[in-house]
Amino acid sequence: MKIPMTEFKIKSLKSKASKNWRKEVERVLITEKQIARRINTLAREIGRDFRGREMVVISLLNGTVMFLADLIRHLNLPLRLDFMGVSSYGLGTESGQLVFTKELRLDVRGRDVLLIDDILDTGRTMSRVLPKIRALKPRRIKICVLLDKPSRRVEKVQADYVGFEIPDLFVVGYGLDFAERYRNLPFVGVLHPHVYKEAYKQVCQK
Ligand code: PRP
Repeated sequence: MKIPMTEFKIKSLKSKASKNWRKEVERVLITEKQIARRINTLAREIGRDFRGREMVVISLLNGTVMFLADLIRHLNLPLRLDFMGVSSYGLGTESGQLVFTKELRLDVRGRDVLLIDDILDTGRTMSRVLPKIRALKPRRIKICVLLDKPSRRVEKVQADYVGFEIPDLFVVGYGLDFAERYRNLPFVGVLHPHVYKEAYKQVCQK
């Protein structure tokens, strides 16, 4: 599997993002165009691997919203869609305690599952979600993530399809948030440290 490394492709924010974001987003890591191109390729790969099967796409809320919408419209095969809500509570840039906020509704027994997340970071979320889905006896589960930060992994989990492998930077946009903000940015950007330092300061003062 060839995964584009974005480390060397960091773009200047000036040319790619509205100046509204410049104070909070240090730079664009992955542009809209790079995301669109990569999703096209991923969709082709997934389409080949799932040919002849009716897949169930399970998307983890909330961060997958943009990636999911763009990916599935390029998947030219029959699919059914369901969501699982899982969230690590807390403001941090670190994953906190995991809470399930929505359970699956579709029956996945004997089905081919494509499990979608926006980012694979420590792997704690996936390592909690996977056994839950496996217990429902699907035929197979393939994992697809937009971003992979292998340097941060603490759980032994790997994705089958990866949009971009990224270094250990705090990224937001294209579905990814900090304190529920920035999900609507059309690109993946690096959050300016002053934003989260300021937020921590406010929490500590409470
Ligand atoms: C984020 C992200 C992944 C998870 C990855 O979810 O969407 O699900 O963290 O981190 P991990 O590999 O260290 O577990 P978050 O709990 O922030 O919820 P969100 O999707 O609503 O942003």
